[in-house]
Amino acid sequence: MKLCAIVLCLVLSTEKSWSYPSSRFEEAAFEKYLEKARAVLDRVPLIDGHNDFPYSLRRYKDNQVGNLDINDLTTSQPWASSSSSHTDINRLRQGKVGAQFWSAWVSCTTQYKDAILKTWEQIDVIHRMVDANPDTFEFVTSAQGIEDAFSQGKIGSLVGVEGGHSIGSSLAVLRMMYDMGARYMTMTHSCATPWGDNSQLDDPGNVPIHDGLTPFGKTVVAEMNRLGMLIDLSHVSRKTMRDALETSTAPVIFSHSSAYALCNDTRNVPDDILQLVAQNGGVVMVNFFVSYISCGLTATVQQVADHIEHISNVAGVDHVGIGSDFNGVARTPEGLKDVSEYPNLFAELLARGWAEIDLEKVAGLNLLRVFRGAEAVRDQMVADGVKPFDEWIPQTDLPAESLPCSTGQSMLHTYFLETLMSTD
Ligand SMILES: *[C@@H]1O[C@H](CO)[C@@H](O)[C@H](O)[C@H]1NC(C)=O
Ligand SMILES: [Zn+2]
Repeated sequence: MKLCAIVLCLVLSTEKSWSYPSSRFEEAAFEKYLEKARAVLDRVPLIDGHNDFPYSLRRYKDNQVGNLDINDLTTSQPWASSSSSHTDINRLRQGKVGAQFWSAWVSCTTQYKDAILKTWEQIDVIHRMVDANPDTFEFVTSAQGIEDAFSQGKIGSLVGVEGGHSIGSSLAVLRMMYDMGARYMTMTHSCATPWGDNSQLDDPGNVPIHDGLTPFGKTVVAEMNRLGMLIDLSHVSRKTMRDALETSTAPVIFSHSSAYALCNDTRNVPDDILQLVAQNGGVVMVNFFVSYISCGLTATVQQVADHIEHISNVAGVDHVGIGSDFNGVARTPEGLKDVSEYPNLFAELLARGWAEIDLEKVAGLNLLRVFRGAEAVRDQMVADGVKPFDEWIPQTDLPAESLPCSTGQSMLHTYFLETLMSTD
């Protein structure tokens, strides 16, 4: 390691919390890394796997964003005083974000109620945010789309549906979400679906509901492979991770999860799974939420870099990326307080002796490879004549609480007969 790198590491690691170097020498060393980091992010798109800004639009504006100027949200309320407002256009540009998976998230309280409706509303608000800011954003649905938007100076904007409850156990809804632009689905959020277990079921004292994915859950995976929709294993239980990795013929992602070995939250990825991700060719995109980085109430950009290094050491540098979870969490690390500060993380890795080619992989090349891999699987399945999977979830797989909100598969038939008998 170069002397200046050692000096910088010492300077940074002796501080309790991260801050800009104070002496002129430190400043010069840090600026040099920062400059190099920015140059890397000018060459390859920084692709973030997860940002909850669309949920902020619902929370603060009821999705009534027709007249909302999102260039600078640092001075307007309620954004200015919100601890989970980390995103606006000015800061995205400062942070050199090249592409963003915007999260279409709806709460688990909507499961068996209006989850599908509200998810469509979130996808709609993402489309409207992109359309209202055409100089900044471009709606994209492919790996090539990300690269094309980046080469035109636009932030490629994609939709990730966060939570399997959003499809109401219907492959038809899954397909329509794809048609609306969704390019990943997180298989669960903080609730099990009728076909898959969530991460909280691995917490001490809890027991699995399905022990991973049910047969229908595996069909969901197969249909996502056929569509070319990325399978996101953040938020799922370990057994769901294993089942999905075993079932998927395409590389998978963790859109916003960190390393369990460094912080034992069940939202993070254990080492044995990291090894399976490497075999699968997938990518784990590191979450910045302090609770998943330090398991405590504060964290630093150095600790985020530790997670990246750990995943790189266990799975390989081809299998790590960035999935900040900005706007979804209240506490962010020192040195990574909002979307303007990504370059600090890359400067930190450079100071540790990382090669620029590896930074390019972490920034975006790994995700692009995974996305292209999923697209290739889709193309092959189409070429092989694989038809859309059209089975329904077995009625016996549905919990009693879901039944009052469903008319059952025979809805149309019953309605038709009633209509015939009640008219004329
Ligand atoms: C993480 O470690 C702490 C301290 O050892 C322990 O109390 C907690 O139960 C662990 N969490 C999990 C999910 O194992
Ligand atoms: Zn999440």
